[in-house]
Amino acid sequence: MNKYIQENKDRFLSELLDFLRIPSVSADSKYKGDVRRASEFVQKKLQEAGVDKAEICETAGHPIIYAEKIINPALPTVLVYGHYDVQPADPLNLWDSPPFEPVVKNEKIYARGACDDKGQVYMHVKAFETMMKTNSLPCNIKFMIEGEEEVGSNNLGIFVRANKAKLKADVILISDTSIIANDTPSIDVGLRGLSYLEVEITGSNRDLHSGVYGGAVANPINVLCEMIASLKDANQHITIPNFYDDVLVLSEQERKELNLAPFDMKAYTQDLQIEETRGEKGYTVLEQTGVRPTLDVNGIWGGYIGEGAKTVLPSKAFAKISMRLVPNQNSDKITELFQKYFTSIAPKGVKVEVRPHHGGEPVVTPTDSKAYLAASKAMETTFGKKPIPTRGGGSIPIVALFEKELGLKSVLMGFGLDSDAIHSPNEHYGLFNYYKGIETIPLFFKYFSE
Ligand code: BES
Ligand code: MN
Ligand code: MN
Repeated sequence: MNKYIQENKDRFLSELLDFLRIPSVSADSKYKGDVRRASEFVQKKLQEAGVDKAEICETAGHPIIYAEKIINPALPTVLVYGHYDVQPADPLNLWDSPPFEPVVKNEKIYARGACDDKGQVYMHVKAFETMMKTNSLPCNIKFMIEGEEEVGSNNLGIFVRANKAKLKADVILISDTSIIANDTPSIDVGLRGLSYLEVEITGSNRDLHSGVYGGAVANPINVLCEMIASLKDANQHITIPNFYDDVLVLSEQERKELNLAPFDMKAYTQDLQIEETRGEKGYTVLEQTGVRPTLDVNGIWGGYIGEGAKTVLPSKAFAKISMRLVPNQNSDKITELFQKYFTSIAPKGVKVEVRPHHGGEPVVTPTDSKAYLAASKAMETTFGKKPIPTRGGGSIPIVALFEKELGLKSVLMGFGLDSDAIHSPNEHYGLFNYYKGIETIPLFFKYFSE
């Protein structure tokens, strides 16, 4: 490891723990002040590390931090993107230690945001500090760190469109994804898109006695379940007409390459304590999560859920439904197909409302660009193994937008593990991964600038 990183290891960790103590939950307005404090923390740390300027840019929602160090306008520029907001921590009772009181246990940092994405953002801040302090920053660098990634990045889109000149760069570098394993580095070369909506089924105009009316009047919860169940067939194939129309079909060669990545079904099911997986028939798990679309209920509610029993025929039922999309599907089009179909399958005894939430487009990133090759070489140097290009199943909707608005491709050089429990209780990030990131990032800059 680089001498400067070695000498400052403990401070790099304690600063990250300070960052993790700020509960920057973007979804919950109760934390608005904390989200702002987190943005100020990033601004201050970037200033201390040596940027020319670091601004807190106001938006209609949470602020965006923009910072830059321009050493020579003639040199290339790397734009680092990340997010300082985190997912809500609940259910709190399932955490072994409080989500915003980070602890280091078994060589891992436990806290909400440890991996997604504060830990990975902070690697960039410390990698930048390292390059500054060791006089080895080889090109210009810009930072755009947002506070609304976990709620759809709506205001970032506006910011990007309004600040195209300011954000001018040669490539976008993002650490917000995973590697296969600590001894098997990988780089995501694709992300899925997303169409997220909420549905509301209304039956009678009021809750009814389930004995007096039950058997005659439609129960919106039963109806909702029937409707949702009919959205997939026995092969886990989605039944919405035209849903697969635009799905890019991989060639046999591409499928073969994708499945070269190591995958251990036994370890996978054992880790999740499930007997077997249940995905779309005819596809491997790597395909199901990487290049095939999905439809999932994220939450469903209605009726009586309090203690004991209440015999009630509810008036309403609700569900939040998301579809992960793959190239070349389009989120607006899929949202519309869903809306049309879901409304059409409702029985006459109920009313349906479908409310779109947010969407995002899928992306694939090149594996032959200078930036990808620099990331690959940097990881090969620090891991001692060439990283495998993989398709990530998650979504970072802004990546497609960067490409559309700025004409810029991204490199997804993440250092997390799928088992880091992001969005779940006991989220954690390995010290190995944190320091590996800080060590690898300066090499990316070096190889990209050569
Ligand atoms: N960092 C994740 C996305 C991710 C995780 C990509 C692991 C690849 C591997 C990001 O913060 C995230 O959670 N995105 C959301 C989408 C957003 C619109 C709420 C997601 O994927 O659900
Ligand atoms: Mn993230
Ligand atoms: Mn996330």
